[in-house]
Amino acid sequence: MVNPMDLTGRLILVTGASAGIGRAIAVTLSQLGARVVAAARNPERLAETRSLLEGQGHRTESFDLGALDQIPAWIKSLTADTGPLDGLVHSAGILLVRPLPTTSRKDLADVLSVNFEAAFMLTKGFRQRGCHSERASVVYLSSVMASHGQAGLAAYAASKGALESMTRVLAREMARDRIRVNAVAAGMVETSMVGGLRSVVTDEQYQAIVGKYPLGIGEPWDVAFAVAFLLAETGRWITGASLVVDGGYSA
Ligand SMILES: NC(=O)c1ccc[n+]([C@@H]2O[C@H](COP(=O)([O-])OP(=O)(O)OC[C@H]3O[C@@H](n4cnc5c(N)ncnc54)[C@H](OP(=O)(O)O)[C@@H]3O)[C@@H](O)[C@H]2O)c1
Repeated sequence: MVNPMDLTGRLILVTGASAGIGRAIAVTLSQLGARVVAAARNPERLAETRSLLEGQGHRTESFDLGALDQIPAWIKSLTADTGPLDGLVHSAGILLVRPLPTTSRKDLADVLSVNFEAAFMLTKGFRQRGCHSERASVVYLSSVMASHGQAGLAAYAASKGALESMTRVLAREMARDRIRVNAVAAGMVETSMVGGLRSVVTDEQYQAIVGKYPLGIGEPWDVAFAVAFLLAETGRWITGASLVVDGGYSA
């Protein structure tokens, strides 16, 4: 039986793999046969992710994406060791819930740096000669907040909006190299990131947010399956898209 989501033999770099959605993506890709390079800053949490991966040939990379200028060289030296990557998933991200008067320019820069600029530099690194295979695929973790206004999320929403605009441009630019570029616009998913949101809103406000999800709040696997779909043969004619995975929030 042919499984169009089979990823056997593919090598995929996943950022943000030490927690939440990124960890679920790493595990799902390994279950589909991929070899995973799991990247984040925290080595202990990365080791935990590594212990959950199925199959052989995985690797962890402790790297702070705040070091934007070093990202292409990091990918070059990584792939010199592993061989070319078949996929790149940028799941690392930070959430800032803060109204305009108390959001500093540094807050804005920090959010844009990890959520958006790192995606740009990762893709620049991935694009380098020898760093990616033929017919490779890039997936960015975006959010429904890129297209829906929610008070207190100016920096975060702007970072995801930038990511989705860049997705469309890079899809066109990199089509000539057969590299597909897509985003997954996720709704609210139970992770430590949402734990951060819960601590700054009242129970009533939190329940009001939950009430906007016809299928309820998502689990990290719900997003991981969509990312795998875009990376695998199932996504072979999809590029420049932002796939909404949000339990009906946008409906
Ligand atoms: N959870 C949601 O409801 C939701 C909804 C829509 C979209 N998303 C998006 O989905 C992605 C994953 O979110 P999540 O909920 O899984 O978040 P999470 O549980 O907070 O995990 C964030 C990940 O990003 C990594 N990270 C943060 N800063 C980093 C840096 N400077 N360098 C390298 N790695 C860094 C963290 O690892 P270390 O701390 O080990 O570095 C961690 O692995 C994010 O892009 C988020 O915006 C989430």
